[in-house]
Amino acid sequence: MTRPLPRFPAGFEWGVGASAYQTEGALDADGRGRSTWDVFCEQPGRIADGSTPATSAGFYDRYPEDIALVHDLGADVYRFSIAWPRILPAGSGEINAKGLDFYDRVVDEMLAAGLKPAPTLYHWDTPLPIEEAGGWMNRDTALRFGEYAAVVAERLADRAAYWIPLNEPVVLSLLGYAIGGYAPGQELLFESLPTVHHQLLAHGLSVQAIRAAGGRSVGTANPHAPTWPASDSPEDLAAAAFSADLTDWIWGDPILLGRYPEGYAEGMPGPVADDLEVISTPLDFYGVNYYSPQRVAAPTGEPSLIQEHEIPAEMPFRAVEVDGPKTGLGGEISPDGLREILLTLTERYGESLPPLIVTENGTSQQPGTEEPGPDGRIHDDGRIDYLDTHVRAVRQAIEEGAEVRGYWVWSPTDNFEWTHGFTQRFGLVHVDYDTLVRTPKDSYSWYQQLIGAQRDQL
Ligand code: FCB
Repeated sequence: MTRPLPRFPAGFEWGVGASAYQTEGALDADGRGRSTWDVFCEQPGRIADGSTPATSAGFYDRYPEDIALVHDLGADVYRFSIAWPRILPAGSGEINAKGLDFYDRVVDEMLAAGLKPAPTLYHWDTPLPIEEAGGWMNRDTALRFGEYAAVVAERLADRAAYWIPLNEPVVLSLLGYAIGGYAPGQELLFESLPTVHHQLLAHGLSVQAIRAAGGRSVGTANPHAPTWPASDSPEDLAAAAFSADLTDWIWGDPILLGRYPEGYAEGMPGPVADDLEVISTPLDFYGVNYYSPQRVAAPTGEPSLIQEHEIPAEMPFRAVEVDGPKTGLGGEISPDGLREILLTLTERYGESLPPLIVTENGTSQQPGTEEPGPDGRIHDDGRIDYLDTHVRAVRQAIEEGAEVRGYWVWSPTDNFEWTHGFTQRFGLVHVDYDTLVRTPKDSYSWYQQLIGAQRDQL
């Protein structure tokens, strides 16, 4: 027996989210510059299936079709990202008018479809010249990012509904600069900490630039999840607290409280106290990307694995796996983790917390299980179950006092899942990578019904 669909408070918004590099393709079109991910993907062995993002989901040419699909879904919000190398091919200086024109068209198409455009300014595709000058290890990158934000905001501020300056900066610092699993592939471990501060500064500067250009509703999108210690031993508790500081509070505290968790400010470069004033510029919403909880234990002197990424032995914690249902990427499935983190954020930040939005949530299934069946349909029951239980967890968190204003599914269509290439499909809509034909999956119909049910109650 199917359970009745949950009902959300009036005004709660439903959305979808995607990023430029994962969907657009057309990497050489209209004057786009090279990015760190272009170089990274060209290195042998980096991408699981040897695929390339050259075409990806073909959004650059097919955006009207994807926007129409999201319109038919009945959603309110379409989150997408702007490729910095399309706007400023050298990272700063000369503006590429054709790049700006592309996003102008995308935004107009979304508005015409009754959707609220939610641009992310940076979803990890750093212009190559910026990386060659030191990338996020270099303070100058934050200043260049602020200028880039101003260029985009001046063009789109009259029409964008929500702004997300940087997507998951913590992931970029950890995977891109500390352990090298993502572009730019550096393995600096704790030497990478300046990348955290510089991305935070870039966040603050761009919030101010967007506001100065008249932009409405500026927020974030950062991964947050509960960190559960493997046991109550003091060693495991200390390891979990260390890990939570590094993945969650090192980002949330500076933005929302204007300070770093204990012990971090001293190691950060530059005029940290002044920077924190900029970094903590008040926000209109706080975006949470959630997929799986983290389970952590004291180190054993051996490396551990978090999904496919190796945590080096010298880290003061290790990831532990538990039995139970897993996502296609190997993460633990725990809807209650989402409820818990929404309430933890509510409690930790109190009055300093603006309304929350779940800016990403979704799952891939086991590779190879999402091809159309003999009936031409994709029965992605696992995804429906994941989304349904997580949506209910959000409802429960609201019930228990979290102010959550929206829920955005990652992702409208299948796309290039970074180092997993095309092996991990996250879409509500299937993409045939040979023909670029789009086929809505069963989860698309499920989401359409869920959104429709909210409208019916009005
Ligand atoms: C998030 C990223 C997004 C996508 C999902 C699955 O960490 O922001 O680009 O890869 O995971």
